[in-house]
Amino acid sequence: YMNYRVPRTRKEIFETLVKGLQRLEYRGYDSAGVAIDGNNNEDKERHIRLVKKRGKVKALDEELYKQDSMDLEVEFETHFGIAHTRWATHGAPSAVNSHPQRSDKGNEFVVIHNGIITNYKDLKKFLESKGYEFESETDTETIAKLIKYVFDNREIEDISFSTLVERVIQQLEGAFALVFKSIHYPGEAVATRRGSPLLIGVRSEYKLSTEEVPVLYMTRNIESVENIRKPRVQRLDSSTCLHAVGNKAVEFFFASDASAIIEHTNRVIFLEDDDIAAAADGKLSIHRVKRSASDDPSRAIQTLQMELQQIMKGRCPRRTGKEIFEQPESVFNTMRGRVNFETSTVLLGGLKAHLKEIRRCRRLIVIGCGTSYHAAVATRQVLEELTELPVMVELASDFLDRNTPVFRDDVCFFISHQVRTADTLLALRYCKDRGALTVGVTNTVGSSISRETDCGVHINAGPEVGVASTKAYTSQFISLVMFGLMMSEDRVSLQDRRREIIRGLQSLPELIKEVLSLDQKIHDLALELYTQRSLLVMGRGYNYATCLEGALKIKEITYMHSEGILAGELKHGPLALIDKQMPIIMVIMKDPCFAKCQNALQQITARQGRPIILCSKDDTESSKFAYKMIELPPTVDCLQGILSVIPLQLLSFHLAVLRGYDVDFPRNLAKSVTVE
Ligand code: F6R
Repeated sequence: YMNYRVPRTRKEIFETLVKGLQRLEYRGYDSAGVAIDGNNNEDKERHIRLVKKRGKVKALDEELYKQDSMDLEVEFETHFGIAHTRWATHGAPSAVNSHPQRSDKGNEFVVIHNGIITNYKDLKKFLESKGYEFESETDTETIAKLIKYVFDNREIEDISFSTLVERVIQQLEGAFALVFKSIHYPGEAVATRRGSPLLIGVRSEYKLSTEEVPVLYMTRNIESVENIRKPRVQRLDSSTCLHAVGNKAVEFFFASDASAIIEHTNRVIFLEDDDIAAAADGKLSIHRVKRSASDDPSRAIQTLQMELQQIMKGRCPRRTGKEIFEQPESVFNTMRGRVNFETSTVLLGGLKAHLKEIRRCRRLIVIGCGTSYHAAVATRQVLEELTELPVMVELASDFLDRNTPVFRDDVCFFISHQVRTADTLLALRYCKDRGALTVGVTNTVGSSISRETDCGVHINAGPEVGVASTKAYTSQFISLVMFGLMMSEDRVSLQDRRREIIRGLQSLPELIKEVLSLDQKIHDLALELYTQRSLLVMGRGYNYATCLEGALKIKEITYMHSEGILAGELKHGPLALIDKQMPIIMVIMKDPCFAKCQNALQQITARQGRPIILCSKDDTESSKFAYKMIELPPTVDCLQGILSVIPLQLLSFHLAVLRGYDVDFPRNLAKSVTVE
């Protein structure tokens, strides 16, 4: 956060930084830190004070007020402070491993970093050979040391801060969003990104000099670490900078996510890969060495709409529970304005322009991670049926590991509710490079996946704050079904089926309410199960994805061992797990797999297993063998998974609460996984 000609006390600066971190904390982080100017009143500019703490942001906040010799009332007319929450990738969660990382004990350069530097070991070796001593286990510390090395070895005295950073990032491989601060450049900020998101919020009461910031191209690439000392000069003038006209007060907010800053401003600039943004004397300039992917010679100031502001309504305790209960509205919102129940037609505006091309394709590939992948598994069969195309569903990481062949006439879907998921983003770029048409299915407008795909569907589920995804899953599910319906509009043989599915979609919100009314019953079941160590979930056909998704929810928020088992695989191994003690949930619905599920049920009860059965309320068969039953309203076979997943969401929620865990912040997990 940089304030220029806006007097702020140190306390106010802390509050802005800490609040920003708190807005991002829903992603689930494990330590936090800040860097601000000065130890005391006299020497406030030429010293950087670091405060870092393991644990939640609240722990850091408390620590800030415990610091001796920190005058909270001292006022800064211009100041630049940085803060970070960490989700450990290299090195355990601890104060020393948390960010900002520093160049040396004098804190000459400090840096905060999101992402992973893959060549940090080589850089560290190089720097150690030059006498640098490392204190943390992080990859980020190499960046702090490297910038000091470049500075110490500069050939021109007045080298600019952004030139230093330019030289540093030419040595970095991997993904990063970085913000630097230095005692050598008081009141100056430099930020850059590659692969990890970074945006800059701008606030000023005064007119801004421009509505888009021109990009200044640097001239030369530097190939090796040894070569980074060569000087270069940059020309800046007022027309190439963003500032408040008349050199007036302005504030800049650098953040990885708009939710951190939206309460201060909704005017933001999204940086592109390899952009270097520098702020000094109230002016912001953007520099690059290479041409940008978009080849846009400027970065526009965008005004963010409500959607992100909704996030700021604040977290209420147990957002996950609230989000599960929001599903009647969220699924309705996904369909709103798209499904015409009277004419049985579906129109997804975001795909309209590419529909012809999509209809000509030879294969659909649906790619995602975790819950988003499960939404692809859940809808594969209905997509195959309605599009009459082969449909591959792929986990993004595995898809990349296999160097999967992709062709120009493939259409590749990328399912991601947060749209920052590194694996999915890399898979998207991989498919784009091979000429396939790319389609995003996302819940966040304007972010990486939605911007980089050729076209897309916004699932309109509303902000999802709980780390465990719930309502996004059901909305992703519906979005893919809607796509299938749109593709099959002209197929005469499919019209009855289409009408049946569309009627099913229409009644979903009411049926979801009916399922949610089973909450007390599911709570009672949780009371019986919460001391168990394991919980198996078994089913097949349309409901295999329900089992995978149910088991993932149980794992991630209750920390119980849980496995989603394909019932057809039972006799090929998992049957050995079954006995009187092992809790097992079976999803048995009135669909084409019903008879086969009954066979599996027999095999379980014959081994004295005690199945808890999720079944349709008109099912008189399964009840004869059930230890416990949860009866669900029936719907069209291919939509049943939307209803059957909800009892498992509720069950995992109650199990987690009964086991005493923080449902919204499961340990070790982050809401948005920006590393591979
Ligand atoms: C689980 C969960 C994750 C995400 C996965 C992909 O509850 O939320 O499995 O689904 O990390 O995230 P997105 O959908 O944001 O790409």
